Amino acid sequence: MRIDILTLFPDMFDAPLQTSIIGRARSSGLLEVHVHDIRDWTLDKHNKVDDRPFGGGPGMVMMCQPLHDAVLAVEETDTRRAHRMLLSPQGRRLTQDIVESLAQQERLLLIAGHYEGIDERVIDALGPEEVSIGDYVLSGGELPAMVLVDAIARLLPGALGHEGSAAEDSFSLKDDDGKPLLDTPHYTRPRDWDGRTVPDVLLSGDHGAIARWRLEQQRDRTRQRRPDLRDDPTG
Ligand code: ADE
Repeated sequence: MRIDILTLFPDMFDAPLQTSIIGRARSSGLLEVHVHDIRDWTLDKHNKVDDRPFGGGPGMVMMCQPLHDAVLAVEETDTRRAHRMLLSPQGRRLTQDIVESLAQQERLLLIAGHYEGIDERVIDALGPEEVSIGDYVLSGGELPAMVLVDAIARLLPGALGHEGSAAEDSFSLKDDDGKPLLDTPHYTRPRDWDGRTVPDVLLSGDHGAIARWRLEQQRDRTRQRRPDLRDDPTG
């Protein structure tokens, strides 16, 4: 899979893209990530990429031309068609289901907005899918773009050391009715730490009993901590 990221702050991506699962997925060739500086496409003699908003108000707005030219130029560097995405608090809220479907794409192009926003006309012209990582406002789309790359990278077959571990995570787990479940608690050695012991069933060697206990834990946790995940929006 290939991911192109368009940003005014390319340096922000250096460490996250080199580290851990994403770094490994890239060096093993499962994932190709290219970060592009939108400023490279400005035609302004002072390298301007933003200007004051028409109608007044605080902050600056990202101009159409540099972003538009950047998207078209970057898309031309590969024959694979890119699925265009814009990280923005106005977008559809990201879920594990959305991440799973994005992980099937062969190429994504992520636009990280900054300043007060992006001129609406270039959004209309490019027609990206708009995604938000939650109902709070960050100073730009860079961290959300990294969140998205991380969530996708760990789903690519072979990216995690242990196959099947992504399928066992919170939200990827589903109950019999198809609704998401939170993860079960985990324990490792020692068996007794500071007077706190590991549940006996996990030491029993009875795989059926362990599986039943874990499912019960997942259901209890989901009911207690995230009752909204069990709510039927149609009912
Ligand atoms: N840019 C600023 N805030 C954001 C958010 N919550 N999600 C995605 N992009 C953003």
